Amino acid sequence: MKVVAFLGSPRNGNTTAMVNAVCKGAVSAGHETEVINLASLKISDCTACCACKSDKFEYCAIKDDMQELYTKIIEADCLVFGTPVYMGQMTGQMKNFFDRWYPFLGENYHIYHLPGKKYITVTASGAPAAVFQSLTDYFNHWLGSFFKMELVQNIVGGELGPADAINSQPQLLTMAENAGRTLK
Ligand SMILES: Cc1cc2nc3c(=O)[nH]c(=O)nc-3n(C[C@H](O)[C@H](O)[C@H](O)COP(=O)(O)O)c2cc1C
Repeated sequence: MKVVAFLGSPRNGNTTAMVNAVCKGAVSAGHETEVINLASLKISDCTACCACKSDKFEYCAIKDDMQELYTKIIEADCLVFGTPVYMGQMTGQMKNFFDRWYPFLGENYHIYHLPGKKYITVTASGAPAAVFQSLTDYFNHWLGSFFKMELVQNIVGGELGPADAINSQPQLLTMAENAGRTLK
C-alpha cells in the first residue's frame, strides 16, 4: 500500500512527530510512505476560475506545486492529513491545499479518484483535545461522507503548546504508530 502524508504545520513540532509515527507504523507493516511538507511548497489559493470544470484542464489551471500533488493523491491508497489547530481551524497551508481538491468534484456531485481510499487525520492543539472536535468532524464530513473515503483513525492531540510537548504524551505517538501499523 502507498501511504502519502500531507503535513500542514510550518514547524517541525507535534504534528510532524505524530505523522512520522503513523508512517513508522506503516513502514513496519510493509507499506511505502511519503511525507509532503505543504509549507515548503508553492501552493496558490484557488482563484475560482473553474477551469477544472471545463474539458481543457485535467485538474487545475494554476501551474504550481499542486500539479505534482494531484498525481500523488491519485496514486495513494491511504492519505494522512496532519495539521495543527490555528484559530480554531486547520492551518492556512492545509486549507489552501484542500481548496485545490475542487477538480475531484465533477458534475452532479460525481467524485473522481477518491472514493475507497483510506485516510487518517492527525491534529494538534494547545487546548485540550475535546475543544476542537469540530475540526475532526470537518475532516470526517468532507473526506468520509462527501468524498467517500474510508476512515482509518482520527488522532487528536490536545494540550500540545510548545513544539516538543508531544514528548510528554508518548501515548499519542504510540496511537499514531499503531494506526499506521494496522493499515491493510
Ligand atoms: C497562529 C497560531 C494559532 C493557534 N491557534 C490555536 C487555537 O485556536 N487553539 C489551540 O488550542 N491552539 C492554537 N495554537 C497552538 C497550536 O495548535 C499548538 O501549538 C500545536 O501543537 C502546534 O502544532 P505543531 O507543533 O505541529 O506546529 C495556535 C498556534 C499558532 C502558531
